[in-house]
Amino acid sequence: MARLFQATIPVLLALYSLPFAMADYPYKTMYFDQTIDHFNFKSHGNQTFKQRYLITEDYWKGGSYPIFVYTGNEADITLFLQNTGFLYDIAPQFGALVIFAEHRYYGESLPFGNQSYTAGNVGLLAIEQVLADYATLIQGVKKQLKADNAPVVAFGGSYGGMLSAYLRFKYPNVVVGAISSGGPIISAAGIGSQTYYFEDVTKIFNSVEASPRCVPTIKQGFAKISELAMQGRAGLDQISNAFRLCNPLQTQSQVHHLLLWIRNSLATLTTVNYPYPAAFEGNLPAWPVNVSCAMITNSSDPLQGLADGSILFYNGTHGSLKCIDIYGELMECSDATGCGSQGWDYQVCTEVTRPAGTNGVTDMFPSLPFTEKMRERTIV
Ligand SMILES: *[C@@H]1O[C@H](CO)[C@@H](O)[C@H](O)[C@H]1NC(C)=O
Ligand SMILES: *[C@@H]1O[C@H](CO)[C@@H](O)[C@H](O)[C@H]1NC(C)=O
Ligand SMILES: *[C@@H]1O[C@H](CO)[C@@H](O)[C@H](O)[C@H]1NC(C)=O
Ligand SMILES: *[C@@H]1O[C@H](CO)[C@@H](O)[C@H](O)[C@H]1NC(C)=O
Ligand SMILES: *[C@@H]1O[C@H](CO)[C@@H](O)[C@H](O)[C@H]1NC(C)=O
Repeated sequence: MARLFQATIPVLLALYSLPFAMADYPYKTMYFDQTIDHFNFKSHGNQTFKQRYLITEDYWKGGSYPIFVYTGNEADITLFLQNTGFLYDIAPQFGALVIFAEHRYYGESLPFGNQSYTAGNVGLLAIEQVLADYATLIQGVKKQLKADNAPVVAFGGSYGGMLSAYLRFKYPNVVVGAISSGGPIISAAGIGSQTYYFEDVTKIFNSVEASPRCVPTIKQGFAKISELAMQGRAGLDQISNAFRLCNPLQTQSQVHHLLLWIRNSLATLTTVNYPYPAAFEGNLPAWPVNVSCAMITNSSDPLQGLADGSILFYNGTHGSLKCIDIYGELMECSDATGCGSQGWDYQVCTEVTRPAGTNGVTDMFPSLPFTEKMRERTIV
């Protein structure tokens, strides 16, 4: 399951909307000989790696008709193509060429193959290099297609939305515009509100009209966990049973991990609260937040309700999990909103500052702070 960076939620939902679930867009897979280090001619000489990109020429009217480029973010690029219907919705109308470019160090675009993440090689995973990749790729493809006059518009969502906006700032000669959807540029720069993220998550749970008791019940469920966690063996077993854990809780640190696991479930559901079933993150029914709230408020026991409403994200529709392995399903890392890859963990520890934890005041979660010091300690 891909775990992605989670950004400004409602805007993100707009970009990643699909007319139909599981759309199957036509594309060809291509590879571009990309410079490994754009800024140091001595470090890797003229060495290149194969950068993958996906191209759809079906709607392109050629010549000076536009080129839409999706600036790939932190996962396999096919995932973004399959879940970004917006480009395919509008391409026919504009007679546009569509390109999805893969981000270096993700998917197949590994500059040093399976050695890309060694200490000596990971340093070229940097936003400056990524933007130079996209600018170089765009110019190279235009040349190949004899489309020198085609205006290029960059598109991106979440971290990819940051990249599309940065591309326009840094390479205005290459892209005439950028659609940056849910790209938290200000927060990632370490300025502005650091609590906005879980506040927004709470607002979305509060907005489910069919389940007005949802947020109060979630809070009761969390209160029950902290009460039981103090009661030794019997209390820990009661929590473990409610959450159907494979390995019953033994320690307070495991209880802490369970709280992060719950928070990660509910937060991620809000980022993929599409009105149709989707498999962008997890394999979820339509309106998963509504479904989760229905489960949370359906049980007479808030603990059981919170367990059922959180398991939904990890087990998905027609899930196959026999029991819950909180460590297998959630890795603690430098991003308090969740992580799933070494690459993203590295990026959040270097260039992209992510929101702090929860405080139980501006959000519905227990107080689970996440300071810069804690971020440094989590590097995996
Ligand atoms: C890289 O540089 C070497 C030595 O200067 C040259 O022989 C080689 O053809 C160059 N390779 C590419 C892909 O330009
Ligand atoms: C890494 O890649 C090399 C060269 O492609 C290959 O020989 C080796 O088996 C790979 N190692 C692993 C652990 O996949
Ligand atoms: C889910 O909840 C939202 C917010 O109350 C509502 O607009 C939407 O219609 C609900 N969806 C379904 C299928 O009930
Ligand atoms: C609510 O509980 C009833 C009885 O246990 C069950 O039949 C129903 O499927 C539950 N609904 C949801 C949304 O979980
Ligand atoms: C996951 O979902 C399946 C049904 O699809 C269910 O049988 C199973 O009990 C669920 N697993 C957990 C841990 O709830």
